[in-house]
Amino acid sequence: MIYRDNIVGVFFLVLVSIFVNIESRSISQFLTQKTKGTKWAVLISGSAGWINYRHQADVCHAYQVLKAGGLKEENIIVFMYDDIAYNTKNPRPGVIINNRQGHDVYKGVPKDYVGDDVNAKNFFNVILANRSGVVGGSGKVLKSGPNDHIFIYYADHGGPGVITMPSGELIHADELFNVLKKKHALGTYDRLVIYIEACESGSMFDGILPKGLNIYATTASKPDENSFATYCGDGTPDHPCFGPCSLPEFKGICLGDLYSVAWMEDSDVQDRKTNTLHGQYSRVAKRTAANLTYGSHVMQYGDLMVSFDPLATYMGENFKNHSDDSVDAKSFSTSSSRNVDQRNSELFYLFTKHQKAPEGSDEKYEALVKLNKVKSQRSQVDNNVKHLGELLFGVEKGNEVLNSVRPAGKPLVDNWDCLKSYVKIFEAHCGRLTTYGRRHLRGIANICNAEITNEKMVSMSAQACSS
Ligand SMILES: *[C@@H]1O[C@H](CO)[C@@H](O)[C@H](O)[C@H]1NC(C)=O
Ligand SMILES: *[C@@H]1O[C@H](CO)[C@@H](O)[C@H](O)[C@H]1NC(C)=O
Ligand SMILES: *[C@@H]1O[C@H](CO)[C@@H](O)[C@H](O)[C@H]1NC(C)=O
Repeated sequence: MIYRDNIVGVFFLVLVSIFVNIESRSISQFLTQKTKGTKWAVLISGSAGWINYRHQADVCHAYQVLKAGGLKEENIIVFMYDDIAYNTKNPRPGVIINNRQGHDVYKGVPKDYVGDDVNAKNFFNVILANRSGVVGGSGKVLKSGPNDHIFIYYADHGGPGVITMPSGELIHADELFNVLKKKHALGTYDRLVIYIEACESGSMFDGILPKGLNIYATTASKPDENSFATYCGDGTPDHPCFGPCSLPEFKGICLGDLYSVAWMEDSDVQDRKTNTLHGQYSRVAKRTAANLTYGSHVMQYGDLMVSFDPLATYMGENFKNHSDDSVDAKSFSTSSSRNVDQRNSELFYLFTKHQKAPEGSDEKYEALVKLNKVKSQRSQVDNNVKHLGELLFGVEKGNEVLNSVRPAGKPLVDNWDCLKSYVKIFEAHCGRLTTYGRRHLRGIANICNAEITNEKMVSMSAQACSS
């Protein structure tokens, strides 16, 4: 009996192994089909300036992830202001790192669009492969075909319904969507994946990106939530790190953004042939929301079907074992590093500068003056908006109307032209909205949603900001 059972057992094992073999062969055939066509990527860092070090660090790292995956340089288009590596403040001239023990991620990154060529017009024309519309830069555009796979990654500050560029106009959610719709109508991709790191990045797609365009998007945060910088702090009592920190010589500069390093460190260590975008989304969401005091909710939009594609379809296979470039992503699921809400990273930098400067020095004094100036500009714009809300909706309801968040599946605003023109009206009377001030775009959107007339917006803005 025992003997016979063994025979049956062996026979069964043989059957199973044949089956597994067939299965894995058909899976690999399926994967080959999926990866037929060219992989393209567009990587955009939307900021400039030393204190925004991390956005260009993120984008350079993304380039290395894709390059290691075998994407060709001619198919990766990089937008970055390029004022970091050789910045006089850089303690490591010519080098950019994206985590504490990180290697140089700047080396080899193509300078397709740098300086003022990093703008919305060029970005849109690059996506639409409109070579004649591109001004400056390398002229590289997304000349993709119907079987191709496209990955777009953006890192910077944002605001409700907007992401920013270091030069020229902001990008509004409706404009990005129109470009994606046009790209779809051109029939020049099979599937397209977008990752966006920015404050309120969910508002770029919520209620806007429909299913059916073969586009899958994930964002660092909900429509009404900040995104977070990470690898900040240096482990001193003033700047404790709960997990890995930045480095002391970086003095208050954060080396990365939480959602961004989460996906890249995941792509660095996972087998991209067997791991899907969906798996990555789950791991990244878990890490980014591990401690919500210092984190956010990662969101997904569009065609969720696309998320069951392997990472390799967009990012290539990781031939090279470069887990030494990365921190072990698993160690983050419970611990949280020193993260700073993106909007507060400027204050964090100035505060650190002040703390670190020698007692009684000019440097210490200047940092304090600057810190106080930034704080007072912030309360000024907060007060202006609050005042405007009170004038329009009454002292009781003003705040509530301006800050109300529409339910999921409804866009920030119904009439994007109204938002754009009311922002202009507000700015004409109250001053230009800064990175910080853009948090109030939701308030202005709600003024449009409440159907306040143009005349009323003009007169109340003038009144709110007259003193
Ligand atoms: C290409 O860009 C130019 C300049 O922005 C524009 O006038 C033209 O309409 C664009 N063409 C297409 C096909 O989008
Ligand atoms: C989040 O981090 C803060 C600071 O370290 C800590 O006080 C708090 O307990 C953490 N919360 C959770 C849920 O881990
Ligand atoms: C990659 O390298 C790390 C450290 O060098 C090693 O522990 C790990 O086993 C390697 N992984 C593979 C798949 O070779």
